Amino acid sequence: MSSDPLHVGVVLGGVAPEHEVSVISALQAAAALDRDRYTPVPVYVAKDGTWYTGEPLLEVEQYRDLEALREAATPVALVPTPHGHLDLLEDREAGALQRFKRPPLQTRIDVMLLGLHGGPGENGSIQGLCETFDVPYTSAGVFGSALGMDKVMSKRVCREAGIPVVDFVAFRENEWGYREEDALDQCEAALDYPLVVKPARCGSSIGISQVEGREALDAAIEDAFRYDDKVVVEEAVEPLREINCSVLGDAQEATPSVLEEPVPSDEDEVLTFRDKYMREDGEAVKDGSAAKSAGSSPEGMAAQDRIVPADLSGKRTDEIQDMAVRIFRLFECAGVVRIDFMIDESTGQLYFNEINTIPGSFSFYLWEPSGVPFGELLDRLVSIARRRHRERNGRVQTYDVNLLAEKSLQGFKAEEPTQ
Ligand SMILES: Nc1ncnc2c1ncn2[C@@H]1O[C@H](COP(=O)(O)OP(=O)(O)O)[C@@H](O)[C@H]1O
Ligand SMILES: [Mg+2]
Repeated sequence: MSSDPLHVGVVLGGVAPEHEVSVISALQAAAALDRDRYTPVPVYVAKDGTWYTGEPLLEVEQYRDLEALREAATPVALVPTPHGHLDLLEDREAGALQRFKRPPLQTRIDVMLLGLHGGPGENGSIQGLCETFDVPYTSAGVFGSALGMDKVMSKRVCREAGIPVVDFVAFRENEWGYREEDALDQCEAALDYPLVVKPARCGSSIGISQVEGREALDAAIEDAFRYDDKVVVEEAVEPLREINCSVLGDAQEATPSVLEEPVPSDEDEVLTFRDKYMREDGEAVKDGSAAKSAGSSPEGMAAQDRIVPADLSGKRTDEIQDMAVRIFRLFECAGVVRIDFMIDESTGQLYFNEINTIPGSFSFYLWEPSGVPFGELLDRLVSIARRRHRERNGRVQTYDVNLLAEKSLQGFKAEEPTQ
C-alpha cells in the first residue's frame, strides 16, 4: 500500500426521508476521520437522485439552502475502474456552461463510507452498486442490508433462530386491497389490542401508529400503505422499555457496545422523528446525567435524550449484548449496526425489535463510552470494508475459458431449436 492518504468517499444525503439526518451523520464522520491517513471526498446524493462532489459539501451550514449548494458543487458520474477503486468524473451534461473551459474534474475513491439512512442507501441498493463497481464499502452486504431493512423478514428470521419477537401479521398491498375485512379479522384473531402498525421498510417512526380498535386499525393500515406496499401489524409492548445495542465487526469478530436506553418525550407512545433528531436546546443525557453539549448545533441521532449505559443488571446487560452479537451474525452484518430491543416491563420479556444496518451518527456515542473513539471506529470500518473487498476478490469470479470461442459453438446459429 502506498503512503498516500486513502480517498474516503463520504456518501451522504440520499433519496429518503432521512436525507438531512444522513448529512449530519456523514459530516460528523468526515470531521472525525484522521486526516493523516484519510482524505474525505464528499459524495452527495441529492433528493432527486443526482450525485455531486466538492469542498462545499463538507460544511454543514451549506445545507441550509440545498439549491445553492447544488450550484456550488460539482455534478459527477461514478466510473468503475479495473483497479478496485472508483472514479468520480465531472458530469458535463449536468454542469454549468463555464465548466467547459477546463478539463473535467476527476477524483479517485478508494473506499465508500456509506452514511445514507433509509431507502436505497440502507436496503442493499447502494451496496449492490459498490459491489458491481468493485469498490470497498463500509456496511453490511446486499443481503444483510435488504434483510435488515425489512421488518417482516427480520422478525421471521429471528423467530426461526429462537430470538423472541412480538406476535405479528403482515400483508402486501394487493392482499389488503380486495379483502380488508378478512385482513382485519385475521389481525383481531391472531393479536390482542393495543396494536402497532408499521410500513415494513421505513425508518424514523414514519407511518407508524399505535391503535386500540378496529376502526383505528383500518385507518392506520391504510396510512402505512402510503409509505410501502408491505405492512406489519404487531402487538404493542406495554409497559415498554427500549434498549439499544451497537455491534461492530464482521463474520470473524463482532463486539457489542455499552447499552443505551432512549428516552421518549412524555406525551408520545412511540419515539418520533422529532424525538430522534430534532432537539433544539442542545441538551444531551449521557452517563445517566444531563450534560450540556455544544450550543444548538444539529447532532443527528446523537442529540436524542438517552441513558448510557442503560441502568440494567450485569446479567441483563450480558444477555442483551450476547443476543445482539447473535443477531449481527445471523443477518451476516459487517461494519457498525444498532440493534433495538423492547422489554415488557410487566413480565421482563425481552424482544428483538429492529436492526439498523447504518445507524444514526454511526452509533459513535455508544462506542466512545465503550472505549472506542470516533476516529478509531472509522478506522475499523474502513479496514473491515477493505478486508471484505479483498476476500470477495480472492474468490473465483469468472473462468478463464471463453465459452464463446469454443469450437462446439460453431454452427450454433444454424442449429434447429430443440423442442
Ligand atoms: N410493538 C411495539 N410496542 C410498543 N412500541 C413500539 C412497538 N414497535 C415500535 N414501537 C415504538 O415505535 C418506535 C419506532 O418503531 P421501530 O420499529 O423502531 O421503527 P423505525 O424503523 O421507524 O425506528 C419504537 O422506537 C418504539 O418506541
Ligand atoms: Mg427504531
